[in-house]
Amino acid sequence: MSERPYVIDEMISAKSIAARVEDLSRKIKDEFPKGERIVLVGLLRGSFIFIADLVRELGDRDVEVDFLEASSYGNSTESSREVRILKDLRGEIEGRNVLVVEDIVDTGYTLSHVIHLLSARKPKKLKTIALLDKPTRREVDFKADWIGFEIPDEFVVGYGIDYAQCNRNLPFIGKVRFI
Ligand code: IMP
Repeated sequence: MSERPYVIDEMISAKSIAARVEDLSRKIKDEFPKGERIVLVGLLRGSFIFIADLVRELGDRDVEVDFLEASSYGNSTESSREVRILKDLRGEIEGRNVLVVEDIVDTGYTLSHVIHLLSARKPKKLKTIALLDKPTRREVDFKADWIGFEIPDEFVVGYGIDYAQCNRNLPFIGKVRFI
């Protein structure tokens, strides 16, 4: 990762994120029947703050939390990317209501691979939510069920999302600008 100096320009405020997380949790509640447990699957590591806020908005629901870590390797000479599972779920999802929680959909390779993998385990319902979507970057046909914000093709950090493992602790989403 580059050592070039950069500044971070705020793109989405903490207040806007909180309001959107509240909206999204209402949509999730409408989708999953009351009284049925929802297994939220956070994709490590970028989704950890988003999933923490989402589960608290779902405080009146029966919720379980699990995590999965996937890593995508790009190769500019090939049209496809390999997605590897670095850490699998601890629990079984067969016959269960599952919501996969991601930070950003970029090319779409990670989520489409994860959904393919998890759907083979025969969940009762499998839905996806991503805080951010960069539709202009898409390389595979993938659409999350719910998106927090559509953003342009910019490198962003904050609210769990990193640049070289830094800036995950910023309470807002900011754009990285090299100086
Ligand atoms: P995809 O497989 O290309 O959709 O990759 C999605 C993953 O790439 C996200 O979960 C992030 O980890 C990473 N990513 C994509 N865009 C950004 C960004 O702007 N900032 C930080 N990480 C990003």
